[in-house]
Amino acid sequence: MDKGKTYLVTGGAGFIGSNYIKYIIDKYDNIKVVNLDKLTYAGNQENLQSVADKDNYTFIKGDICDQKLIGELFEKYSPDYVINFAAESHVDRSIGNPDDFIKTDIYGVYSLLENCRNFGIEKFVQISTDEVYGSIDKGSFSEDDTFNPSSPYAASKTGGDRLAYSYFVTYDLPVVITRASNNYGPNQYPEKLIPLFITNAIDNKKLPLYGDGKNVRDWLFVEDHCKGVEFVLQNGKNGEAYNIAGNCELQNIEITKKILELTGKSEELIEYVKDRAGHDRRYSLDDSKIADLGWQPEYDFEEGMRETVEWYKNHEYWWRKIKSGEYLEYYKEHYGEDM
Ligand SMILES: NC(=O)c1ccc[n+]([C@@H]2O[C@H](COP(=O)([O-])OP(=O)(O)OC[C@H]3O[C@@H](n4cnc5c(N)ncnc54)[C@H](O)[C@@H]3O)[C@@H](O)[C@H]2O)c1
Repeated sequence: MDKGKTYLVTGGAGFIGSNYIKYIIDKYDNIKVVNLDKLTYAGNQENLQSVADKDNYTFIKGDICDQKLIGELFEKYSPDYVINFAAESHVDRSIGNPDDFIKTDIYGVYSLLENCRNFGIEKFVQISTDEVYGSIDKGSFSEDDTFNPSSPYAASKTGGDRLAYSYFVTYDLPVVITRASNNYGPNQYPEKLIPLFITNAIDNKKLPLYGDGKNVRDWLFVEDHCKGVEFVLQNGKNGEAYNIAGNCELQNIEITKKILELTGKSEELIEYVKDRAGHDRRYSLDDSKIADLGWQPEYDFEEGMRETVEWYKNHEYWWRKIKSGEYLEYYKEHYGEDM
């Protein structure tokens, strides 16, 4: 077990980053965690209430693109590890407005890498995504397959992924890269499919399903993802990328029906809507590389979904606040007034 390290976690107020911070603070006795987050619409300090007052946790509001600020953080905290979760992360938003995606998901990674190079670091973990590979009809992508990103989100994440790799090759920076499947679980912003559909179902609102509902994603419970990231940080080989899969491929319609079953609502709530532009048909990861190192996900889908639905049922104050205000304007523009 690793002890006494300082973790600089970026994007730690978002869905996965906040779950990761809570996981490592719970797992290790004397680590220090510095969370740098810009608090975009997706960042929420309420996700970190349980650790906010701990002596070993510090929150800094700031942008990963701000090289000077990152330099000051390195001087002040001398992090051993940098784990970069910070990103613009919603594919639909990247179709409407790619600008912030290019800035944060590419330039932001560069800004972090430059500081790691200048100050020295034990490990830089770039949180990449399965979307860098693009769609696959049959079989699964392994880490050495060709990239074929098809949304501005996926393309900007591919830029960040390869930039991190280039700092390993060119400057010998100790970089590892993780590429995970679609995550679900507590604290996910209710614009992504699963939390959107759970919260709409609770409110008897329509569930807007893209296209024919048969797009396939592999689903990974967020706690498993956090454990996988920490496993790669501790055990991954520098310069390598690791797929983190949930081994649970499902069509969107199957997910939708499961949500309706778990919330006790009728399938009449399903509303098929115009497909997303460039919607990838199927994502699939071959995770034998991380499995050979000794890691695999623990949750099955039924268990993970039950926990997730329960969490949204018990945390209405969290998502109702989000689903009013700015969110509502974006959402109505995207799906129309009725959903
Ligand atoms: N959600 C998934 O299914 C999934 C799957 C695979 C990989 N990923 C990757 O995991 C990471 C986290 O995803 P998430 O779902 O938690 O996203 P999220 O949108 O919930 O959180 C992103 C966080 O980054 C912060 N942020 C955005 N721009 C920033 C900037 N310029 N500087 C500092 N902070 C900034 C936001 O405020 C927010 O707290 C992302 O890199 C994403 O690409 C996500």
